[in-house]
Amino acid sequence: MQHITLLDKKFRIFIPGDEIQEEIQRIADQMNADLEGEEVVFVGVLNGAFMFASDLLRRIRFDVRITFVKLASYQGISSSGRVKKLIGINEVLQDKTVVIVEDIIDTGNTIESMIEQVSGFKPKSVKVASLLLKPDLYTKDIRPDYIGFRIPPHFVVGYGLDYMGLGRNLPDLYVLED
Ligand code: IMP
Ligand code: MG
Repeated sequence: MQHITLLDKKFRIFIPGDEIQEEIQRIADQMNADLEGEEVVFVGVLNGAFMFASDLLRRIRFDVRITFVKLASYQGISSSGRVKKLIGINEVLQDKTVVIVEDIIDTGNTIESMIEQVSGFKPKSVKVASLLLKPDLYTKDIRPDYIGFRIPPHFVVGYGLDYMGLGRNLPDLYVLED
């Protein structure tokens, strides 16, 4: 499909599924070379990263663990005012090589908070894999270890990413039409 409509918005094809799969194979090849021999736990960030995590993991050739987490909004007292608490860690992360698996990094606020909270479990190291990165909006110093596609600062859906909860099931990525 070249064009889709989700609720009130029109989207056009952006990255076809076969290109996404090729890129994931490239990331997996790199991980298979880099992380072999490490005790690795992948931590997928729900909901958006479920498809990327699934396609990535089936291409990993060493023994690996995976768990999924959510970032729950809550009102707490912190320096930043509003923070999102990581929930769902049920794997031992201490002394493990943790690979956070994200769908997209936009401003970087989410991944920064993830890294901070995962670091609290005293892993050996924390690595970041994100299918997508919007470099124009990214304001943080942390350099993600594995990036699929660097994209312009436009809103995208499909392949796990949603607009108002819709579009996550699409095998291709679509971009909002203006
Ligand atoms: P950040 O904290 O600004 O880096 O935003 C990251 C989160 O915002 C992602 O995990 C997504 O849930 C959401 N997000 C950012 N850009 C998009 C997009 O283009 N489409 C769908 N969700 C997005
Ligand atoms: Mg996400």
